[in-house]
Amino acid sequence: MEDLFSVKGKIAVITGAGGVLGGSIAKSLSAAGAKIVVLDIRQENLDSKVAELKAAGGEAIGFICNVLSMDSLHETAAKIVKEWGRIDILVNCAGGNVPGATLSPDQTVFDMKIEDWEKVTNLNQNGTVYPCLAFGKVMAEQKEGSIINISSMATYSALTRVPGYSVAKTGINIFTQWMAMELAQKFGEGVRVNAIAPGFFIGDQNRAVLINPDGSLTDRSQKVLAKTPMGRFGDITELNGAVQFLCSKAASFITGAILPIDGGFSSFSGV
Ligand SMILES: NC(=O)c1ccc[n+]([C@@H]2O[C@H](COP(=O)([O-])OP(=O)(O)OC[C@H]3O[C@@H](n4cnc5c(N)ncnc54)[C@H](O)[C@@H]3O)[C@@H](O)[C@H]2O)c1
Repeated sequence: MEDLFSVKGKIAVITGAGGVLGGSIAKSLSAAGAKIVVLDIRQENLDSKVAELKAAGGEAIGFICNVLSMDSLHETAAKIVKEWGRIDILVNCAGGNVPGATLSPDQTVFDMKIEDWEKVTNLNQNGTVYPCLAFGKVMAEQKEGSIINISSMATYSALTRVPGYSVAKTGINIFTQWMAMELAQKFGEGVRVNAIAPGFFIGDQNRAVLINPDGSLTDRSQKVLAKTPMGRFGDITELNGAVQFLCSKAASFITGAILPIDGGFSSFSGV
């Protein structure tokens, strides 16, 4: 019987695959039989991820690629097609908060540095839009492919301290819906575009705002847990099944969706 959820043999391109989320998704898709293209701007992140995937018996290649450069993205798309012939999956994991773009508790929005606003909105918004254009074009020509973008809990209602990140991730939501419409109407139903919206996971980028140096929870993380019906942080491996589902035949009629993976945070008023 056909496995509806199979990604076996599919060519999966993952931007920021040397990072926490991208690395975990790469590992999981690889274990499910996908061939992984690891993209990152940092050579050391790239090399260690490719080596890890190969050591676990997966097929992987890696390229240095800057998601903010259309030239770099087009060159990389051409290299991937030359090497492996096609692109089936794109997961846009490059992104995240930028030092300086998170307001400290004693700052107001009027203290925000415009350079940091520009950095965080550029990386998160354009760093997703540009790869969708470069790799999505290959998918449009094939008339087949699945794109997964990474949204955030900062898009459902206002989250203190992170104005730039919130605006950029909200931009990703409407761009996901817009590309889903555009590709289905103009290139057929085979190219789908969806997003996942991770809830709160402790990672390098947010550890300092969620965990005190002595290991106890910060005021902010206590508020997060109070608004999470499941009452806990997520484990990043809990994103993997949703990504695989959205990339598989099981999701053949799903496009333009933004799937929260958050223990109920986005659906709970807090009261
Ligand atoms: N960690 C979390 O709890 C969490 C929660 C919600 C959403 N997210 C989102 O998930 C995504 C990944 O987050 P993460 O925690 O894995 O971050 P991370 O910092 O661990 O990984 C990001 C990777 O992207 C690479 N990168 C940075 N700039 C790049 C560029 N211009 N071109 C190519 N690669 C570049 C980095 O080198 C790094 O390897 C981000 O969009 C983040 O906002 C994370």
